[in-house]
Amino acid sequence: MVEIRRPSRKARKFSAPSLFQLPIHPGSAISAGDFSVAQVRQILLAADALEREDPLRRARRLAKRRVALLFYEASTRTRTSFELAAKALGADTTLVSSLSSSIEKGESLRDTGITLKALGAECIILRSPYSGAPYLLAQATGLPVLNAGDGMAEHPSQALLDLRTILQLRGIRAAAVNERCLRGITLTICGDILHSRVARSNALLLTKLGAKVIFCGPEKLLPENATEIGPGISIERDFEVALRRSQMVMMLRIQAERLAGLKIDLDDYRSRYQANAERIAACAPKAPVLHPGPIIRGMEITSEVADGPRSAIAAQVANGVPIRMALLARALKGGRR
Ligand code: CP
Repeated sequence: MVEIRRPSRKARKFSAPSLFQLPIHPGSAISAGDFSVAQVRQILLAADALEREDPLRRARRLAKRRVALLFYEASTRTRTSFELAAKALGADTTLVSSLSSSIEKGESLRDTGITLKALGAECIILRSPYSGAPYLLAQATGLPVLNAGDGMAEHPSQALLDLRTILQLRGIRAAAVNERCLRGITLTICGDILHSRVARSNALLLTKLGAKVIFCGPEKLLPENATEIGPGISIERDFEVALRRSQMVMMLRIQAERLAGLKIDLDDYRSRYQANAERIAACAPKAPVLHPGPIIRGMEITSEVADGPRSAIAAQVANGVPIRMALLARALKGGRR
């Protein structure tokens, strides 16, 4: 598998745009690490306002603007909520998926992006198995690119909707979001951290606001260098110890599609890392349980916990539409190109 490297911050700042490389559009959302705290607050405030707004009035905001959804990987939540968000704002959407387009014939990401732009797309939402692909697409097209998940790298809109869920659970208003608003909150993220773009984006975003993040999982799925993502992140391999230190927990599935020959003893994994009712009751009885989905019941989480009173999974999904409306409005503000 080819890994497309994210250009360094310096390279992004100083490289002169060439015929083949346009500047990254400021309305793009590619990495959770790129957002300032003020921008995060602005996105959350916009999500609140758009959610409350009269639907007819809201549908005039991006009336007839063209949004392309370019999905090289399967998705239920992200694709549907981006599409519903775009439609709620009045935009026209088109879905291009790898199985039903010329991508299947070998057309490159760059050429697909340039084609979509020539067809009038003003914003591209991209899900790709390749880390860094959104940067390449943004530089090839000059359009705002919203990263809907790139390889093992990032999933910034998921981190924003997870943040909105956490703020709601703690009764913190969007207007109160600052560098300290999550101080005193420790979130354990447990599971396949190695392959998880959700873990990376959440760690980048939540620690900006003062939260601490504990990564928990077996060595094969959680290398020691995972703490290098940023400050405020630690590793605890004992799930029960991590739970006792946490106010919230987020479970992750094992990403079977990215294991690439890695062998995991699933019985051992379940016995050590599963969020089951007994373990949660014993170690973190008040902790809300989050999961970005898709969930594998009976593996990383039991039905009793996933459907139980502390589950925040449905709230996370519901927050997808307002957050993605805010990201689309931000991407397309300033009128038609
Ligand atoms: N959380 C998430 O990205 O889910 P989907 O793969 O269904 O979009």
